[in-house]
Amino acid sequence: MSGYLIHSARQLADKIYEYWVEAPRIATKHAAGQFIILRLHDHGERIPLTVVETNPQSGQIRLIVQVAGKTTEEFAQLKTGDFILDLVGPLGQATHIHNWGNLIVIGGGVGSAPLLPIAKAAKAGGNKVHAIIGARSKDLLILTEEFETVCDEVRVCTDDGTFGTKGFVTDVLNSWCETGTRFTYGIAVGPVPMMRAAAKTMGQWGIPGLASLNPIMLDGTGMCGACRVTVNNVTRFACVEGPEFDIHGVDFNELMMRNRSYINEEHEAVEHAHQCQLNEMIKHVRAEA
Ligand code: NAD
Ligand code: FES
Repeated sequence: MSGYLIHSARQLADKIYEYWVEAPRIATKHAAGQFIILRLHDHGERIPLTVVETNPQSGQIRLIVQVAGKTTEEFAQLKTGDFILDLVGPLGQATHIHNWGNLIVIGGGVGSAPLLPIAKAAKAGGNKVHAIIGARSKDLLILTEEFETVCDEVRVCTDDGTFGTKGFVTDVLNSWCETGTRFTYGIAVGPVPMMRAAAKTMGQWGIPGLASLNPIMLDGTGMCGACRVTVNNVTRFACVEGPEFDIHGVDFNELMMRNRSYINEEHEAVEHAHQCQLNEMIKHVRAEA
């Protein structure tokens, strides 16, 4: 079998899986903020994933994947000892770490995974790092303990109030700022509506910062244009110039629209895959009868 060996695989939360994969060159070269593009098999689509952690000694990289379509459903079937066909990276720009001072990092749902290495690098760069981690419910919260070990203070929220403060990450940011804390920079990673809302709240409190964007990507090398986003009225290619951009300049409405371009095809692909699985099961049951 050829490809990249999955050293360990485990489920972190509902539809969220963690993998340590053998990829020595990426493990050595990767810096916070960068991502990889992978293909599970030779009929597979290419999907971008942020590298959450690397271990250059063991040559392994840590990936966290949320089931969101056909490919990620296939990914979730992979177990320790399985292989991933292609892994290309590290791609994109590393986070330009500055001494921002009083940093707030905001992670929404599985967006907390790409945020963790950025928080670590910012802390190592001399910043005071505060974090807000939000999820729809307690069962979907990930990595909160790791944020606790990295950051100066972590506040957790859930939409349904099953853990931490009840409400959105932006509610927590608002009430944090209302107590008089002045954040001098902010970095938000998560679903597009969350980053758009974070931009608005950060704007209200005069906080400059970045959003790590997740547009559709194909080649990852700046050739196909699939990942284009508009930032401060200029077209940018997230795969080579990003994925992080000025949060106050991003056209989030356009990003949301572009990300929905293939939603019908994605649903059809999932339906088709489920139907094939069902047909296989029926064949199997009939063969046994
Ligand atoms: P989700 O929809 O469960 O939201 C997670 C949290 O974000 C919520 O609990 C809430 O606190 C906050 N949030 C969501 N909508 C908000 C709004 N309108 N206003 C204020 N806060 C809001 O998130 P999920 O299901 O874990 O995330 C899935 C999405 O995240 C996918 O679309 C995926 O593509 C995206 N994602 C983005 C990145 C990135 O790099 N930006 C990385 C991974 C995943
Ligand atoms: Fe093709 Fe960025 S993914 S240009």
